[in-house]
Amino acid sequence: MRTIAVIARKGGSGKSTVALHVALAAQLRGRKVLVADTDAQRTATHVLKGRRAAGPELAETSGAKLFALQVQAVKAGVDLMVVDTPAVVEEEISYAIVAADLCLLVIRPTFVDLAAAIQTASIVRRLRKPALVVLNQAPPARTGVETPSVKRALEALLLLRLPVIPTLLRARLSYQTAFESGRSAEELDPPGEAGREMGELWTFVEGFLFGRQAAERAG
Ligand SMILES: Nc1ncnc2c1ncn2[C@@H]1O[C@H](COP(=O)(O)OP(=O)(O)OP(=O)(O)O)[C@@H](O)[C@H]1O
Ligand SMILES: [Mg+2]
Repeated sequence: MRTIAVIARKGGSGKSTVALHVALAAQLRGRKVLVADTDAQRTATHVLKGRRAAGPELAETSGAKLFALQVQAVKAGVDLMVVDTPAVVEEEISYAIVAADLCLLVIRPTFVDLAAAIQTASIVRRLRKPALVVLNQAPPARTGVETPSVKRALEALLLLRLPVIPTLLRARLSYQTAFESGRSAEELDPPGEAGREMGELWTFVEGFLFGRQAAERAG
């Protein structure tokens, strides 16, 4: 089993959106998935409870209980645990990072998110965990050229030595509306752009987490 912690010291950057979309993308592609909601707001829980179709397992939990949950999940044959975290409670974020094989740092291409990324990066480095940035809510590229805000964000993340997943998540209404029925944007419109970008993003993350095993499944 592998564990992903989805983190950001900035509220509203898209942690719950990314956590649930990664979990649902993995599940759609045959992985057995558990979502661990450690945020007292319970956003991930509210969304998954509104779901009619079979979905990932859900645990409403806290950082201190993650290790016990991992032990149970391994016994239950879970392939992937995705931990959604709060923005402000540093203790909860630290627990999730310690439990994780990979941290996904969710950052929007804005000055305030990038300023907060400095703090997030320092916690991840202190705890010596691999981290990848999901650049979220990126405005659409125009004729293949990224907007100045995205270019500046990519330059800043390079200076912070934070690797960015090459597939950016664009600002799309479907990421918001899909949650009304407990689904991902990809499930709402599988052949659409959100489906394509989530598929690409999951393939990248899966390769990072599962390596050769993922390539063998794909081949
Ligand atoms: N790529 C996107 N396109 C459009 N809307 C998005 C996208 N990502 C997130 N949002 C919207 O932004 C808002 C905040 O997202 P979300 O709740 O996932 O953030 P969060 O980081 O988990 O917030 P919190 O810090 O409160 O836990 C939500 O309304 C969500 O639907
Ligand atoms: Mg959240």
